[in-house]
Amino acid sequence: MEIEELKNLIDKSRKIVFFGGAGVSTESGLKDFRGNKGLYSESFYDYKPEEVLSSTFLYNNPKVFYEYYRKNFITKGIKPNDAHYYLAELEKKGKDITIITQNIDGLHQLAGSKNVIELHGSIYRNYTVNTKRNFEGIDHILKAEGIPYDENGEMIRPDVTLYGEMLNQEVLNKAIKALRNADLLIVGGTSLTVYPAANLINYYSGEEMIAINRDYIPIRNFIKGNIGEIFKQLR
Ligand SMILES: NC(=O)c1ccc[n+]([C@@H]2O[C@H](COP(=O)([O-])OP(=O)(O)OC[C@H]3O[C@@H](n4cnc5c(N)ncnc54)[C@H](O)[C@@H]3O)[C@@H](O)[C@H]2O)c1
Repeated sequence: MEIEELKNLIDKSRKIVFFGGAGVSTESGLKDFRGNKGLYSESFYDYKPEEVLSSTFLYNNPKVFYEYYRKNFITKGIKPNDAHYYLAELEKKGKDITIITQNIDGLHQLAGSKNVIELHGSIYRNYTVNTKRNFEGIDHILKAEGIPYDENGEMIRPDVTLYGEMLNQEVLNKAIKALRNADLLIVGGTSLTVYPAANLINYYSGEEMIAINRDYIPIRNFIKGNIGEIFKQLR
């Protein structure tokens, strides 16, 4: 599919869903998991990333978990890129667009998007493990050395879905509703291998579905490339 065709489709669609993943943020400097030079190509103290990013690991080895989490997910100074900005501009111009993201980096909101469904939570929300007291923002995670605790000595954890944890059902329902009502689905920057998130696109029943990705993903209308660069041509 040509960029011009994509532009025309976006112009004529009434309800758009953008379904994205870690690849949307690589042009901002964050690593994805499975792309070239992604986090899955590096182990950490001999642990595999999917092991460190599991709930069992967080509770059994919080020190190493937080070391990894801070290094790779709380990267201060990271800014949105053209992909985030383009989607935010569409919304600002009055397009009915819902972003369903697997990312936890909050970059869509930083770019100005309001209608964002975060399937896997956000680094900007944290809570105490037992008493479930909420802590907004990333400052207490950043400031703490090692494991972050509240003033009563209780561990604070990110409100993100780790391996071994369930997705929030309310969030899933919102995503399903948006997909069912959409007449254009754009899938981008995702390997579509993380479940149950990847299954969600099956709820879409509209005619037009387009993928924009560096590596091939099995969607008929496929545009190969960097999503920020491609969306920049549409801005
Ligand atoms: N930024 C983040 O918040 C972040 C970062 C890493 C992982 N994660 C989490 O890890 C899981 C990983 O699954 P996933 O499918 O999102 O990512 P993934 O790493 O499995 O796949 C990323 C895909 O994006 C493609 N890609 C990379 N850069 C791109 C670019 N600039 N333009 C277009 N395509 C690009 C790659 O080819 C790859 O197919 C997600 O559930 C997410 O929660 C989040």
